[in-house]
Amino acid sequence: VTTRVAVRIAELGDAPVIEALLDYIDELHRAALPRILQQTDEPRPAEFLGRFLTQAGCVALVALVDVDPEPVGVLLACVREVAADPIVIRTRVAEIDTIVVTPLRRRQGIALALVGAAMEWARANGATRVELGVYEFNQAARAFWQSGGFETLSRRLEKPIP
Ligand SMILES: CC(C)(COP(=O)(O)OP(=O)(O)OC[C@H]1O[C@@H](n2cnc3c(N)ncnc32)[C@H](O)[C@@H]1OP(=O)(O)O)[C@@H](O)C(=O)NCCC(=O)NCCS
Repeated sequence: VTTRVAVRIAELGDAPVIEALLDYIDELHRAALPRILQQTDEPRPAEFLGRFLTQAGCVALVALVDVDPEPVGVLLACVREVAADPIVIRTRVAEIDTIVVTPLRRRQGIALALVGAAMEWARANGATRVELGVYEFNQAARAFWQSGGFETLSRRLEKPIP
């Protein structure tokens, strides 16, 4: 089945749907990393999403499929200047903070469409590459990024202290 996917920049009115999508990734991370993440009744700070919806240099992209009036996927990203260090080649990097597709709409090319739009947005905002972090446990996400041509730039290691 091929799904027609449209991607647009999110508006303030999309916030509730985006928050609901972000809950999926929070739950996924919490279930896999109970040592690090906990259940909470406190809502996500509004500034988190607000940054992507309103700040220059940041973007929230939402994906829509023809049959569904509400966004079925979201990607949050910002561009930044690399550290001012003589050894670092001066450039702008786009950092993808989050990408989520609603569970029933996965494997239909929606995330791929979001990343394509994010690459275009990043280029238009002066970035020369895209970076992101992915948890090692997240096999689906790692397979997704690998299939999209993303390669491991560094590895973050940890060891709990007994
Ligand atoms: C990761 C995620 C965003 C992928 O979204 P998606 O819309 O299903 O991805 P796409 O349909 O665009 O996938 C494109 C390709 O990526 C690969 N891929 C995607 N999901 C995969 C999976 N679960 N297992 C293996 N490969 C996968 C495939 O090669 C796929 O192409 P194919 O379906 O023709 O085989 C989605 O699984 C998700 O929302 N996960 C929960 C949130 C999350 O983990 N976000 C990433 C944090 S870094």
